Amino acid sequence: MTSDLTQIDGLAYLVYRSSAVDHLNDEDLQDILTSARDRNEENAVTGCLHCEDGMFFQWIEGPAQAIHMIGNLILNDPRHYDVTVLGQGALDARRFPDWRMRFSGRSNGSLMDWFASSDISTFDRKEYVGGVVTFLASIDI
Ligand SMILES: Cc1cc2nc3c(=O)[nH]c(=O)nc-3n(C[C@H](O)[C@H](O)[C@H](O)COP(=O)(O)O)c2cc1C
Repeated sequence: MTSDLTQIDGLAYLVYRSSAVDHLNDEDLQDILTSARDRNEENAVTGCLHCEDGMFFQWIEGPAQAIHMIGNLILNDPRHYDVTVLGQGALDARRFPDWRMRFSGRSNGSLMDWFASSDISTFDRKEYVGGVVTFLASIDI
């Protein structure tokens, strides 16, 4: 199975984690969400963004070409750094069909606490990525 988004015909996803720049404030976050939701809607992209302890975890899903394009915009955005793509590829069905970009913070759920109470080894990359995705999907907003 290819992880090259340009080679995928249907739906695709991309999940990453990054560090927010130190000076990022609530207004910056609102700006990010407003432009993200506008562009996502135009491109039939849905997903979620989780922010905790200065780190972002984001899942985006939609037509593969749109995920490729928006993924590149996100990866090059100077409002965060150390962007690490955890996974990308073809997707059977959307996980966040009702969200142009759901946002959650620590008050909605803590990934760190969730990992601490799970049996998942965060040193095993596959387990770690699976855990991040399971956690994001489990948040109830
Ligand atoms: C953490 C984070 C998440 C983002 N998520 C999205 C997204 O889901 N969709 C999107 O179109 N842009 C998203 N962006 C914003 C784009 O990176 C940004 O809009 C792009 O760099 C172009 O800026 P502009 O909106 O001023 O044209 C995100 C940015 C950051 C920092």
